[in-house]
Amino acid sequence: MITFSSPADMRAWADQQRSTGKTIGFVPTMGALHSGHAALIADAARRTDLVVVSIFVNPLQFNESTDFDSYPRPIDDDLAACDAAGVAAVFAPTTSAMYPPGFQTRVLPGSLGDVMEGPSRPGHFEGVVTVVAKLLGAVRPHVAIFGQKDFQQLRIITQMAADLELGVEIIGHPIVRDPDGLAQSSRNVRLSADQRAAAISVPHSLDAAVRSANDTDNVEAIVSAVRAVVIEEPLAEHEYTTVFDATTLEAIDTLAPEHRFAGKVRIATAVWFGDVRLIDNRDLFSA
Ligand code: PAF
Repeated sequence: MITFSSPADMRAWADQQRSTGKTIGFVPTMGALHSGHAALIADAARRTDLVVVSIFVNPLQFNESTDFDSYPRPIDDDLAACDAAGVAAVFAPTTSAMYPPGFQTRVLPGSLGDVMEGPSRPGHFEGVVTVVAKLLGAVRPHVAIFGQKDFQQLRIITQMAADLELGVEIIGHPIVRDPDGLAQSSRNVRLSADQRAAAISVPHSLDAAVRSANDTDNVEAIVSAVRAVVIEEPLAEHEYTTVFDATTLEAIDTLAPEHRFAGKVRIATAVWFGDVRLIDNRDLFSA
C-alpha cells in the first residue's frame, strides 16, 4: 500500500494506473475507520481493480470548531485497517496541501442542500461538495462509493457529479449497522456507555415510523411515532425528523399510493446524545 499526502502525487499515480487500463474505486473518508467503511472498501474492490481511500478531516464542512477539534483521528489504526483490507493507495493530505494560501473556490450544492441537514449545519454541504470535487480531481476514480447513512450528502454528490460532468460513477452503499441496529458512524466512539445504550432509540424510532406508515398516510402521525420513541429516552434530545422524496429530497406531508414503493420515500432523523449528534435514515417502504 502506498500513501500520498500531496494532490499532485496522488493524481500522477492515478494517471499512471489509468494509462495501464486499471480501474480505480474510491472511498472518501474522514478517517476513524469502522466496519461501515470496510464494507465500502469491499464494495469498491468488487467493482474495480484498485481501491483508493482518502483520509482527510475537512475543516470546510464543520460549522462547529469543537466538533472539528474533537473529531477522532486514529491515523495509524486507519492505515493498518486500509492495508489489511487490500487498499492500493491512501490519500491523506494535510490541510495546507488541500487548501494552500490563495485557495478561494467553493462549489455550491443548490436546493438539495437547503433541506434537512442544510439549515441545521450552515455551510456544511458547501464544504462537502468542495472537498469531494477536489478529492475526485486528485484521485481520478472511475467509481466513488458513499454510505447511505449520509443520504442527503450522497444525493448532493451524485447531482454534482452529473451536473459538472465529472465522469465518475457515484454509488450509494446501504447503511451498515451494529447488531443492535445502530448505524455505524465515526461519531459513535464519542458516546459514553450509557449514551451508546440510549442511542438504539434512534433505529428503534425509525422502526416505529415504518410500522406507523403501514397504518396511516398522515406524515405528522409518522413523525410523532419517531418522537414518541426518542422522548422515552432521557439521554436523547430529538432535533428533527422528516419524511422526504428520495430523489428531490422535498418534504412530504401526506403519503399517496405512488409513494408506497421501495426507493420512493425515506425518513431521516437527527438526535443528540450530550454533545454527540447522530443521524439515521431509512427507506419507508423497503421491499
Ligand atoms: O462522509 C464523509 O466522511 C465526508 O463528508 C466526506 C465525503 C469524506 C467529505 O469530507
